[in-house]
Amino acid sequence: MTISVSVQENLEKLKQQLNYHNYRYYVLDDPTIPDAEYDRLFKALQELEAAHPELISSDSPSQRIGEAPLSAFAQVTHEVAMLSLDNAFEQQQLLDFNRRIRDRLKLADADIEYACDPKLDGIAVSLLYRDGILERGATRGDGTTGEDITQNVRTIASIPLRLIGTDFPELLEVRGEIYMPKQSFNELNERAREAGQKTFVNPRNAAAGSLRQLDARITASRKLQMCAYSVGRVEGRELPDRHSEVLDTLHRLGFLISPEVQVAANIDDCIDYCRRLGEKRDSLAYDIDGVVIKVNSRRLQAELGFVSRAPRWAIAYKFPAQEELTTLLDVEFQVGRTGAVTPVARLQPVFVGGVTVSNATLHNRDEIERLGVMIGDTVIIRRAGDVIPQVVSVVKGRRPPSAQAVVFPSSCPVCGSPVENTPGEAVYRCTGGLVCEAQRKEAIKHFSSRKAMDIDGLGDKLVEQLVDQGLIHSVADLFSLQTSQLAAMERMGQKSAENLIAALEASKQTTLARFLFALGIREVGEATARALANHFGNLEAIIVADEEALQQVADVGPVVAHYVAEFFHQPHSLELIRSLQAAGIHWPDVEVAAAELPLAGKTYVVTGAFGELKRSDATRLLQELGAKVAGSVSTKTDCVVVGGGAETNSKFLKAQELGIATMTEVELIEQLRQLGALDE
Ligand code: IVH
Repeated sequence: MTISVSVQENLEKLKQQLNYHNYRYYVLDDPTIPDAEYDRLFKALQELEAAHPELISSDSPSQRIGEAPLSAFAQVTHEVAMLSLDNAFEQQQLLDFNRRIRDRLKLADADIEYACDPKLDGIAVSLLYRDGILERGATRGDGTTGEDITQNVRTIASIPLRLIGTDFPELLEVRGEIYMPKQSFNELNERAREAGQKTFVNPRNAAAGSLRQLDARITASRKLQMCAYSVGRVEGRELPDRHSEVLDTLHRLGFLISPEVQVAANIDDCIDYCRRLGEKRDSLAYDIDGVVIKVNSRRLQAELGFVSRAPRWAIAYKFPAQEELTTLLDVEFQVGRTGAVTPVARLQPVFVGGVTVSNATLHNRDEIERLGVMIGDTVIIRRAGDVIPQVVSVVKGRRPPSAQAVVFPSSCPVCGSPVENTPGEAVYRCTGGLVCEAQRKEAIKHFSSRKAMDIDGLGDKLVEQLVDQGLIHSVADLFSLQTSQLAAMERMGQKSAENLIAALEASKQTTLARFLFALGIREVGEATARALANHFGNLEAIIVADEEALQQVADVGPVVAHYVAEFFHQPHSLELIRSLQAAGIHWPDVEVAAAELPLAGKTYVVTGAFGELKRSDATRLLQELGAKVAGSVSTKTDCVVVGGGAETNSKFLKAQELGIATMTEVELIEQLRQLGALDE
């Protein structure tokens, strides 16, 4: 059968369009067509290919996922070795690096121009393009020999199967890092934990594990990214002399380049860059472990050459490690507000992620089993950003003979009530309820916290003392405390006691949403409390609502509805509410209050990683101004606030597709200031 020219042309055109739109979406983060249009083109391609299977080529967007798993990875030799980097940990080492370069180039006092690049914490890869088509993807391996992971890299959407345009070298080897964004990593581990499966230690291990899969369909299911940072073999055409311009070229050809890359006029600017990026580290959407500083002129790079495995023209400035080894001294069991028993690791203090850590969470009973951890073990602690430190693995080879098993308690360590779990749930809970002193203390702390009743000056330690001394049993007792009783407490004086009494008085005027949140009903967070308040308008309506009525509230499903109804059915809940009201706690009716707020009637979506504000704070402040904050973008959305990492942000893309206004974190802060929700 002869294939008509027009079929071939049609197919070619579809492939090109799809490759281009894929690039606009995943690399430039600036799609020009809606998803539906992309899907339509994709379907047209699949249909054409189904009718003419002999025309299917490897650069077709339909061919990202191969079918048959491999039995082993083939070996690949890197013709241009993939080098490693020397490390620097201090400013002085960067100055020494600069001096060595000047000496070697005989450029006494001249400024050397550098390119500063985030050091991505992932897996180094080499991608070989022949005539613009991806031919092979390989791991770095030992720098000379790596593994052929072509099938796997093809599944990564930000890797072009075919270069954009026609202006590229015949042979081009692009190098870069494959990594897993923090959010994808957290979601992957969360799912694994729920399914009782093994979790990954960090995003780098998750990326490595996802990439080294003989079945590429598994790789495809993990959200990996690739960022290009240099070239290896280049034949048939010269690239620009400046490394920074090579990156620009790679970007035009279809690769993701870190938006953080900057040219520095001299080493002082590099030092400045390292400081700034260090401050930004936690707010980035992916893990970095430092900065790679490279002489920007490739001519000078060639002149400088390399020693053993590392180039003389580049250095890695390393940030403080986010993982360290230490010893597990003991495991204690904390009882939370809802009775959840959480094992907490007591550690030999260790400096990690910029602070000294002596406690880390062990999550739950399953986690202890999964880790196989014993007291006395050497463990790896990870502390990334403001996330609570975690025990991520155990160095079993270093287990001392004296190591002891961790015994999960079957009765509450505080009140002695049985500890039980709901089948299928990983959490074990103390069944003591408010009989349990730990639960009572936590309930009082929660009640007085900033987002709840906001009782200024009633700290955790003071709550514990007050309960320990029997002065309060429940939150209602707070309002009958006397100045003299408070003044007698540790680290309290007459003045602070008077201030606390005044704060208790001030807290009585509140909002229904805050009050509902403060009650500490299971699964009722701030957002749900607000939704309930806005829906029902007053407390009495919520008290009498049945589960069905509760489920009418946006974001309230059967589980939450059950907990809410159960709470208000209990006589002691109602007693508590009545005594709090008798103590003078009151709030205005919701409708009246909400309609007057500046953002009343507006729906916002908040997404991405935030830097200065926390995302939770942004959400709360918007809600306090009357806005509804929704979880997904729809035609009803008025504005999407996008933090960092917009390049992969589906909500941002959706907003663009629907023509909905977007706003950066900086713009939001400005708006919040203008509306008086944030201080100048
Ligand atoms: S340049 C000769 N740039 O760091 C220079 N490397 O120790 C070669 N890495 O395994 C590397 N981010 O995978 C360069 N922006 C970046 C990088 C980077 C991460 C990794 C790379 C290599 C290791 C070098």
